Amino acid sequence: MLPTKVSIFDVGARDGLQNEVPVTTADKLALITQLGDAGIKRIEAGSFVSPKWVPQMADSDAVLQQLKRQAGVVYSALTPNLKGFELALAAGADEVAIFGAASESFSQKNINCSIDESIERFIPLMEAAKKHGIAVRGYVSCVLGCPYEGDIDVREVARVSEILYKMGCYEISLGDTIGVGTPNKARQMVEAVAKVVPADKLALHFHDTYGQALANILACLETGISVFDASVAGLGGCPYAKGASGNLATEDLVYMLHGMGIDTGIDLAKLALAGDTISRVLGRANGSKVANAIRT
Ligand code: HMG
Ligand code: MG
Repeated sequence: MLPTKVSIFDVGARDGLQNEVPVTTADKLALITQLGDAGIKRIEAGSFVSPKWVPQMADSDAVLQQLKRQAGVVYSALTPNLKGFELALAAGADEVAIFGAASESFSQKNINCSIDESIERFIPLMEAAKKHGIAVRGYVSCVLGCPYEGDIDVREVARVSEILYKMGCYEISLGDTIGVGTPNKARQMVEAVAKVVPADKLALHFHDTYGQALANILACLETGISVFDASVAGLGGCPYAKGASGNLATEDLVYMLHGMGIDTGIDLAKLALAGDTISRVLGRANGSKVANAIRT
């Protein structure tokens, strides 16, 4: 059965902007406000990682501290370790996300440690988050393929997802980091993971490198998942995944869902405006087909 309502988690201000030319803190704040104005209720606002690795996210503390909070909006941040968690907590993040991978090579390139070591690092973070009552989301990267290893066994995706879920993550977001997945594979992967993590605790995070993200979401819409990550204007990629383009554009996802009679609570025109504004700041074309179509 199709869901009647879905929740969209906009990752443009983090996943998007981490892989674009740096923008000012003021531009990030304006983007976050516009996303809230458009009705987005879950916004990934920054990332507390090493500024040497991802300089675009170095002002995440200022972003979290200065953002104009809007009613009912949850502002989240990426945290790879306890240090990142402490910084996110001090900056006022409502929730945080840990990020692991189903590929050893990607784990090494992305966070400089093995999958097992990453899980060891997450343990003290989870304890601290529990103590402070901060919800933790868990990402698993490379669920449909890895830029270094190629195909990834769905059993490994399920194994890592189950570990993060059992550690206490309230939701596991399955990342097609380089957008190589196709619909049948996406659905089979979700069905394998849903055997160990309930489908209503899963989210899909599909990059659109090969233009398959919408098709993949459509193929998974009847599996019981109703949370989807997307990036306004299709911003971004991943600095440690060569060839990764942005996430699925939020506007394109909203258009498809509304066309299917599925409620998102989002005002598409206002969302497209947010995407146009940040695209202008970046000096690039808006990566959403829908945003470009409704403007003309
Ligand atoms: P490391 O070098 O192994 O860590 O990096 P370390 O503990 O040895 O520390 C080295 C330096 O980093 C030290 O500073 C630490 O203080 C500092 P120094 O003494 O050299 O001046 N450091 C930190 N600084 C700020 N915040 C922190 C932090 N931790 C250590 N939290 C580390 C390990 C994880 C830090 C590093 O590898 C890193 O920052 N990686 C960046 C990874 C990243 O941001 N990737 C992109 C996001 S993931 C993604 O996009 C995928 C996703 O969208 C899902 C999908 O699409 O699949 C989520
Ligand atoms: Mg991503």
